[in-house]
Amino acid sequence: MPRIAMLPSDVADQIAAGEVVERPASVVKELLENALDAGATTVDIDIEDGGRRLVRVSDDGFGMDRDDVQLSIERHATSKIRTAADLVGVQSFGFRGEALSAISSVSRFTVTTAVADGAGTCIQVAGGSLRDVTDTARRRGTTVSVSDLFFNTPARARFLRGTRSEWRATSDVLTAIALARRDVRLRVTVDGKEVMSLTPARTLRDRVAALWGAKSVDRFLDVDAVTGPIRVTGLAERPADVGTASRRTAIIVNGRAVRDVGLTRAVESAYRTALSAGLRPSFALEIQLPGDAVDVNVHPAKAEVRFHDRWGTERAVERAVRRALGVLESSALVGAGARIWHAPTADAFPEPLTQVPLAEDAPFFAEHQSAHVELDRITPADDVIIPPLIQLRRTYLLYEHAEGVVLIDQHSAHERVLYERFMQQITGGGASSQRLLLPETVHLSPRDAEVLEANSDSFQRLGYELEPFGGYSVIVHAVPTPHRRFDALKCLTESLATLSGDRGATVHAAHELLVATVACKAAVKAGEPLAPDEMRALFRSLVSTTLPAHDVHGRSGIIRLTWDELDRRFGRR
Ligand SMILES: Nc1ncnc2c1ncn2[C@@H]1O[C@H](COP(=O)(O)OP(=O)(O)OP(=O)(O)O)[C@@H](O)[C@H]1O
Ligand SMILES: [Mg+2]
Repeated sequence: MPRIAMLPSDVADQIAAGEVVERPASVVKELLENALDAGATTVDIDIEDGGRRLVRVSDDGFGMDRDDVQLSIERHATSKIRTAADLVGVQSFGFRGEALSAISSVSRFTVTTAVADGAGTCIQVAGGSLRDVTDTARRRGTTVSVSDLFFNTPARARFLRGTRSEWRATSDVLTAIALARRDVRLRVTVDGKEVMSLTPARTLRDRVAALWGAKSVDRFLDVDAVTGPIRVTGLAERPADVGTASRRTAIIVNGRAVRDVGLTRAVESAYRTALSAGLRPSFALEIQLPGDAVDVNVHPAKAEVRFHDRWGTERAVERAVRRALGVLESSALVGAGARIWHAPTADAFPEPLTQVPLAEDAPFFAEHQSAHVELDRITPADDVIIPPLIQLRRTYLLYEHAEGVVLIDQHSAHERVLYERFMQQITGGGASSQRLLLPETVHLSPRDAEVLEANSDSFQRLGYELEPFGGYSVIVHAVPTPHRRFDALKCLTESLATLSGDRGATVHAAHELLVATVACKAAVKAGEPLAPDEMRALFRSLVSTTLPAHDVHGRSGIIRLTWDELDRRFGRR
């Protein structure tokens, strides 16, 4: 007796529908995307009982004629592609010809549509069978009504959550698409009440303001960077604001709203040195890349895409966000035009008494560092007006500013500067170094020696010239000279000890970890007196740095007290 039989088509349709139609939010997504594919400029959406009782989507798109609308509910019926080759770089949201067939097989389903104002067609379908086709009058466009979702599949209906939770899922879908398609007018009612009314927006920022709140847009920095064929634009939250409001994220790839854990992580790693652990930024990013660099046909609901060069795409996103965060810092420190420092009157800040001047007059940061020249090009150092600086407790630098007073933590500020410079050396050309008159021998623990060997290339790029010398010793021939207080051997051994003690780290440290460690060890410590020229050099380098105002451990390196705040505290207002 045969054991295999073909499934009846209605059962097959219901099974297929399970992949596409999971909940009301999926219905809203499919119908809204169809409306947009039909060239709609205005879409009205009505939802009742979380979408269980009704989802109705009306558009002013190009509509369907009598034959097409009957075909539209068949499986694999589509007007959007004809051949497999059309899938590459497909521009429309739809291309599978599945959505209407899937939705109509698990609901009571009505389409009213017209290709021109006047005569149109209405079809009625219940649980997948066509019940009625009638003529009707309608303006150009299409209205699809989906009632009693899952009425004929009670097992699926039981999986639906409460009304609120279904609406939340729908609202996420609407928000994502509304961000991607800012050109459309979108109106949404829930149980008869208008909950969303969007007019066409010019920019993503405008749309974000309309969706996430007008106040919230101030929290975002503009992102715009091109890496090879990939352009990343959009908004990323200022590090200082992260965690102050609930988190929202949106990723749009070639006009499609997608979820992507890898890209989300790439955004987060751009913030790595700027946020304390556990804080996660909000963002809305658009990624544009050649059509043949993404595959959109990998997920039943098209919520995910596949990148041919995933690594490259993630790095492009990370880089773009990092640049956006950097721009903030230079501009936040020096202000527009780099001219917001108001030199205080001469006697406002006498030479600080707590400071022990050093004999030498050489600048703090070795000018011959190649990376320094690079940095100077980003923000010409001459543009920076350096205010009189005071060192407090041999730990903080203080200065007066038009809007208040600013305190800088000398160690974390210096660490930031060195982090960026070392990073450029490691990823770029490498550093110049100074040969030692007499080579030094350093004895290491076995574990430290192992770490050094695994990272010898990085240390060399930082300016260390090392030669293994039997056992666990190395001979040091040349060392980097990032500043005149730098103790190269101490920095080397301390960095190795930290890296090898980091249980989470592999022997081969990631660039960032290594650089962060070395920068921390190389930076001036709290408690070291700085000469005026050293403070000025530190200040100047800090302004040129594109990293955010936090040290590599996520601590804040700069504190600003506005006059307003001081006045308030002193009860002046
Ligand atoms: N609102 C609409 N206006 C005009 N035509 C529509 C509309 N909705 C659907 N259609 C037509 O019906 C066809 C079938 O729609 P359906 O959503 O099932 O498939 P699709 O959009 O082609 O692909 P996918 O399953 O990937 O969404 C579409 O290709 C389109 O020609
Ligand atoms: Mg579709």
